[in-house]
Amino acid sequence: MGTVYRSIRGMHDFLPVEATYSHSIEEYIKNILHHHAYFEIRFPVVEETGLFKKAIGKNTDIINKEMYNFYDKKKKTISLRPEGTVSCIRACIQNNMFYQSQVQKLWYHGPMFRYERPQKGRFRQFYQLGVEYFGCNDIVVDYEIIILTVNILKNLNLLSNVKLEINSIGTLKDRKNFSLVLKKFFQKHIIHLTKHEKNLLSRNPIRILDSKNQNIVKLLKLAPKLNNYLSKSSYTRFEQLCNLLNSSKIDFIINHQLVRGLDYYNDTVFEWKSKDNLGSNHAVCSGGRYDNLIEYLGGKKNSAMGFAIGIERLLIIKKSVDTFYFNYLTIDINVLVVEVAYLMLAINVSEKLRLTWPDLKINTCLQVVKKKNYTKFSKNIKSKFLLVFSSRALNMNKILIKNMFHKETYIPLNRIFQNPCIFKK
Ligand code: HAM
Repeated sequence: MGTVYRSIRGMHDFLPVEATYSHSIEEYIKNILHHHAYFEIRFPVVEETGLFKKAIGKNTDIINKEMYNFYDKKKKTISLRPEGTVSCIRACIQNNMFYQSQVQKLWYHGPMFRYERPQKGRFRQFYQLGVEYFGCNDIVVDYEIIILTVNILKNLNLLSNVKLEINSIGTLKDRKNFSLVLKKFFQKHIIHLTKHEKNLLSRNPIRILDSKNQNIVKLLKLAPKLNNYLSKSSYTRFEQLCNLLNSSKIDFIINHQLVRGLDYYNDTVFEWKSKDNLGSNHAVCSGGRYDNLIEYLGGKKNSAMGFAIGIERLLIIKKSVDTFYFNYLTIDINVLVVEVAYLMLAINVSEKLRLTWPDLKINTCLQVVKKKNYTKFSKNIKSKFLLVFSSRALNMNKILIKNMFHKETYIPLNRIFQNPCIFKK
């Protein structure tokens, strides 16, 4: 027997149930974004490696360990995108979209790639639906973006399954000052640090705040706190944001340890974490403000904030509340014939039905199904209604209609185009 190929580790297939379910949820979110006047942008799956290195930060896990880098045929290093924000900015700069400091509200959707250790909710190819707001750094933008994530999760009926954590990581300068102090503190406790943490301490000390090592968790209780090193403006911004969220009765937790794994953020950062489906540290949606990145990548100075939802993680949570998610494959009407002579008629009638009832999913079965088999057949296909063409019915100019509870009626053929109630459960 030849080799049986399997998908690459950490990369998974979406089978029809999952793909259909996922599609319906994504469409739902896109519709919310449409109503908030966000527009779609699409960019390539590969970019120059240097772009990601520069924007995400060369001392981050993503750049150090998780990138899929390749040489193209001209020996240029290119990478599969690990996220969308950076490519989105590259595309906007390249296409002169940041003109006259106009506000731009964009969304994108597609696969991202990170060479992480696969586990529940963590993949090497995963989908993100990302949102970016360019052109204004007023605190109400931070508030509105967070409210948008609240609306999305609320509309998906998931608000009680997730919790919102927010923090301010201050300006670049605030973080530099704090990093020095933090480094000094941990140097006094160096014996408790693993090799990886010592490495972090020298290259990106602030990421130690994310550590799960119990020794570090204990030490962090005594360590200096980032919120005490925020500049006045960052401190005030954060206070204003908390007030706005409180005034709208949005539940949130301030997590001073939340620093995010990408270097481009400043001030507001946030993550929506699952209460019980994803394991302790997996966020389903996360983002923040990044007011320096556009200029840093060669554009005009411009403020920005955004977030991305991890679709696989969203599906894991959503499936746990939607026990009937597999019903997404149900067909509304299955048209079948018991005699071959009626196949063309079935095709033509199905076509007319699709034009008449565009919201219904209508399948024409192109095999002849014996009368004794069609109940079994329809069970397998999961259709709400069967329309059966047989000479017995057609001799009376009628058609057999059978619902999912096996109730059968013969009705005049033309009535199926006139009365949508026929196809109501
Ligand atoms: P991120 O936190 O790296 O942020 O990823 C955003 C979301 O993608 C996460 O909250 C998570 O749901 C999902 N995600 C990340 N890694 C994986 C993985 N290995 N497997 C499955 N899901 C994953 C960003 O990517 C930023 N670009 C978000 C942003 C947009 N910030 C501002 N604008």
